[in-house]
Amino acid sequence: MGAAAAPVAPAAEAMSGSTTPMTAVVQLEDIHKIYDSGEVQVHAVRGISLDINAGEFIAIMGASGSGKSTLMNLLGCLDRPTKGHYRLGGIDVSNLNANELADIRNQRLGFVFQGYNLLARTTALENVELPTLYSKRRLSTREMEARALHCLDIVGLSQRAGHFPSQLSGGQQQRVAIARALVNEPQILLADEPTGNLDSKTSAEVMGVFQKLNDAGITIVMVTHELDIARYCKRNLIIRDGRVVSDIQVADRTVAEVEIKKLQEAEAAAKLTA
Ligand SMILES: Nc1ncnc2c1ncn2[C@@H]1O[C@H](COP(=O)(O)OP(=O)(O)OP(=O)(O)O)[C@@H](O)[C@H]1O
Ligand SMILES: [Mg+2]
Repeated sequence: MGAAAAPVAPAAEAMSGSTTPMTAVVQLEDIHKIYDSGEVQVHAVRGISLDINAGEFIAIMGASGSGKSTLMNLLGCLDRPTKGHYRLGGIDVSNLNANELADIRNQRLGFVFQGYNLLARTTALENVELPTLYSKRRLSTREMEARALHCLDIVGLSQRAGHFPSQLSGGQQQRVAIARALVNEPQILLADEPTGNLDSKTSAEVMGVFQKLNDAGITIVMVTHELDIARYCKRNLIIRDGRVVSDIQVADRTVAEVEIKKLQEAEAAAKLTA
């Protein structure tokens, strides 16, 4: 897949099963988050309203401390807003209790982190299987394994299923983490600096996996510090002091396949002249 892949909008429409205008999968309405540690209050998110439609691929950027991770934690139902409403797939999740939020997370969301967060003494396959233990429908051992293998295949790592994280490169570990995020078939993938620990070629490979998933209809929201990485996405938001100060569609997106080829050519040329 890649540049020639089917456009996202029809796929997203097909997933929603109708041709009526899509409703946003995420609707934030005047969301605030105040951290209150008794003496100090930090107003980390200050009134963000935002709609995200199915099939979008968004990068959130902004200076350190601007509220990106706080916003991602709210989007990921890992935390509740102090004020405002959050509708996820039409359900108001702003006032759900911790158990209800956990159910929503397991059913609808997949998470990818900067540090991969894989279990060290567990194979790639078992790491990917893990979230299926928390899925609503009880799966047989064979079903869990089949699903996990399928997800490893999507990220191009089915031959590494039996490897432990220490036997994998950083980029491969991150791809295992993406497979793990996919295993419960989420509608939305949330990633906080997924390429933060990776070099440019490996970052391009990981962004290629995200572009392939997005082409297949998955909505992706990621935080990045790097403008180059944000250019692989379709929409870029900039946050400053807990507010959205810029929200643009990316005009000339970077295509991972093209970028990887360029980087390979540059590498080969450097070897020839060395
Ligand atoms: N659990 C917490 N308790 C109190 N304050 C917090 C907490 N988490 C974050 N903050 C504060 O909220 C503000 C926003 O933090 P946040 O982690 O969202 O920033 P960020 O944009 O993700 O930064 P970075 O790029 O460094 O990851 C900061 O001032 C931070 O100190
Ligand atoms: Mg952060």
